[in-house]
Amino acid sequence: MKEMSRRSFLKAGTAATAALALTPSELLAKAKANKKNANLGKIKLLGVGVGGRGHADINGVTYKGKGEIYDDVEFIGMCDVDQKYAKGVLDEYQKLFPNMKVYNDYKKMYAELLDQADAVICGTADHTHAIICAEALAAGKHVYCEKPLTRTVYESRLLTKLAAKAGVATQMGNQGSSGEGVNLTCEWIWNGEIGEVTRVDAFTDRPIWPQGLERPTEVHEIPSTLNWDAFIGPAPKRPYNSIYHPWNFRGWWDFGTGALGDMACHILHPVFKALDLGYPIHAEGSSTPLMSDCCPSAQVVKLTYPARPNRPKVAMPEVVVTWSDGGIIPFRPDGLPVGKNLNISGGGAIFYGTKDTLVVGCYGESPYLLSGRVPNAPKVCRRVPGGPGGHQRDWIRAIKEIREGKKDWTRTASDFSEAGPFNEMVAMGVVATRLQGLNQTLDWDGENMKFTNIPENATVRAMLKDGFSIHDGHPTFNKTYTDPVNAREFAAELIKPNYQNGYVLPDMPKD
Ligand SMILES: NC(=O)c1ccc[n+]([C@@H]2O[C@H](COP(=O)([O-])OP(=O)(O)OC[C@H]3O[C@@H](n4cnc5c(N)ncnc54)[C@H](O)[C@@H]3O)[C@@H](O)[C@H]2O)c1
Repeated sequence: MKEMSRRSFLKAGTAATAALALTPSELLAKAKANKKNANLGKIKLLGVGVGGRGHADINGVTYKGKGEIYDDVEFIGMCDVDQKYAKGVLDEYQKLFPNMKVYNDYKKMYAELLDQADAVICGTADHTHAIICAEALAAGKHVYCEKPLTRTVYESRLLTKLAAKAGVATQMGNQGSSGEGVNLTCEWIWNGEIGEVTRVDAFTDRPIWPQGLERPTEVHEIPSTLNWDAFIGPAPKRPYNSIYHPWNFRGWWDFGTGALGDMACHILHPVFKALDLGYPIHAEGSSTPLMSDCCPSAQVVKLTYPARPNRPKVAMPEVVVTWSDGGIIPFRPDGLPVGKNLNISGGGAIFYGTKDTLVVGCYGESPYLLSGRVPNAPKVCRRVPGGPGGHQRDWIRAIKEIREGKKDWTRTASDFSEAGPFNEMVAMGVVATRLQGLNQTLDWDGENMKFTNIPENATVRAMLKDGFSIHDGHPTFNKTYTDPVNAREFAAELIKPNYQNGYVLPDMPKD
């Protein structure tokens, strides 16, 4: 007989004792539950918006290595509005999963397959994240959604609450949150290595897509392979022009969130997490000409957060977070060596502490202290296997824990309970820029999602056309603007968009 090690003997003994402690009916229930879980089989997935970043996400859950795939997932449906742009991906996945159905409208796919699915991965343009994810969460499905989680504050709050109510596994696609750099940034700050932080300057070198444009007047023929109405979704209808899709949607207010929404989800995440941020109390924005339809070429946003509960080793006083983009890099902190570029992989954040200054790159990459000291703080954050590369599979791990009935299942690094409130920070930056014409610092009531100091009759407007020309050899200025609109009403619409074309968000769950 094979000899048992002391450890396996103890383990076997503990399991036997635990089994004996159960009543016969409990044992029967446990056996039934195990059988049910064993029968659950593969995790059945739907993919929505797979031609761009969505491809990396579906690959992330599917491929073990080159050509080798995991046996615990199966795509039963995939939807993309652009059957040409996404063709390669759809063909590849239909070969992997021959029974997988393909759609060009998620509504149709949900009507046919959502019931049978366990989980949804969403990689569409920003303005459709909320509706696609909200419907999935309301149906009790696990959700992985690209960043920004949503285009607006209300939609983020909704997804946070729907996910909490559903008790499902969620993950926003800010993959850096699964990485070592974010862990170290948090651990250094929580261990008091740089002292108290009252100022953070963050930036990105984006946009690297068109912004600051006038709305195109030219109407292009809609390609037969593109479902333009489905792309528009809940946004106001507009004629097709190839400037909007693919990829460039991010620079248009109705579809995207500009450089801020695109990159702050990577760059501000270590700031939000390490400083235990919640809702800001003040917001202010400024930019190059504020156009009616297109995000500005460059902007600066200032968000003020009130003091938070102190950590055991460091206080969390009021902090001002300043964001810049479009090539505006923050002023250099004292002590930064001459010639050292602050930009790491597309941007970065500088935490000014009372004892030291911490610089961290985009995606939480390569944090360092300006003093040159390398802290040795206790490792209190969970390490995700594979780091940012393991971000998608970590969501699958969480789904499996829930399916196995594990009560204390471990949440992903960007579970919507954190990603939702964090995304509100990002969405608030966009609002601050669009309300800059008020010429005031905005006071924000986060709980109630309302600005409290916009004067009743204040109005705002945006530029339609710059209208500059050289006329008869003379510089001629002829700017035209939208009609002024009531600022309170405009702000309310920026916070909670008015869905059109028959799209309706599920109700906000009660606390
Ligand atoms: N995590 C990251 O590092 C990262 C990188 C790039 C993009 N993103 C995010 O991914 C999302 C998509 O960006 P992208 O660069 O892949 O854009 P993209 O235009 O290249 O790809 C989007 C895909 O979704 C499809 N699509 C758009 N709307 C759809 C809808 N309503 N239903 C079904 N399909 C739809 C498009 O046809 C396209 O195939 C954005 O929210 C973006 O911020 C994240």
